[in-house]
Amino acid sequence: MPDLVIRNLHANIADSDTEILKGIDLELSKGEIHAIMGPNGSGKSTLSHVLMGHPGYEVTEGEIIFEGENLLDMAADERSRAGLFLSFQYPFAVPGVTVANFIRMAVNAHRKGGPDGADDPIRIPEFRKQLQEAMELLEIDKSMSSRSLNDGFSGGEKKRFEILQMAMLKPKLAILDETDSGLDIDALRIVSGGINALMGPDMGTLIITHYQRILDYVQPDRIHVLVDGRIVRSGGPELAKELETTGYAELAKEAVS
Ligand SMILES: Nc1ncnc2c1ncn2[C@@H]1O[C@H](COP(=O)(O)OP(=O)(O)OP(=O)(O)O)[C@@H](O)[C@H]1O
Ligand SMILES: [Mg+2]
Repeated sequence: MPDLVIRNLHANIADSDTEILKGIDLELSKGEIHAIMGPNGSGKSTLSHVLMGHPGYEVTEGEIIFEGENLLDMAADERSRAGLFLSFQYPFAVPGVTVANFIRMAVNAHRKGGPDGADDPIRIPEFRKQLQEAMELLEIDKSMSSRSLNDGFSGGEKKRFEILQMAMLKPKLAILDETDSGLDIDALRIVSGGINALMGPDMGTLIITHYQRILDYVQPDRIHVLVDGRIVRSGGPELAKELETTGYAELAKEAVS
């Protein structure tokens, strides 16, 4: 069985009848990179929030199985400890908490009740070493770690810090929601290089993007097109190139008929 199995997933905005996800089926195994593309408002970010257990959404039908466990039975923090990671489309600021301290808290929260039994907080020298290595990988200036998280960060800097958190948390399933948007060409290359360096047989990645460009650097095994809460088409990497020329209109028509 694939590591992540999403079956007939329907979800509403919490406490409303507005259905956003209308029957999603998707399977992904560790070691694979899948991309999700689709028009604005089709439900891509909603899918990422539902996977993470965001309380603003309610699953009305279907299931999500991760490594044989029912994710829908798990609270958001349990999902995070089970190895799910979401890089937000719009990262939030945490004034007064430095990047280094925020990441250390996140790393320590993950160690609690972790499968390796490492319940104790990470030792500071070990943490510093890992953080420095990850910052070097992502070409982030040393001085940045003592700044408040995302407070006054440029759009591209925020995205780079999302990937820094990912590098430190070493997720089993990374969901990257438009991590490429707002990155300049050099940052896109560096961030993509970081994702590729972190990928391996123990990690799967779901990349939500509007652009073919990041997929030139981070090569997807599969591409899924989400239109109006449904995956209307899945295919190989060539599908992204096709979409770039045809747009979504034709696919949306096919999906309705
Ligand atoms: N909390 C909410 N309250 C009201 N509407 C919501 C809420 N969350 C999502 N929606 C609506 O659900 C639809 C899907 O939103 P979502 O953010 O998932 O789209 P998206 O595919 O990520 O779009 P984009 O490409 O612009 O990021 C939109 O019409 C959005 O307005
Ligand atoms: Mg979105």
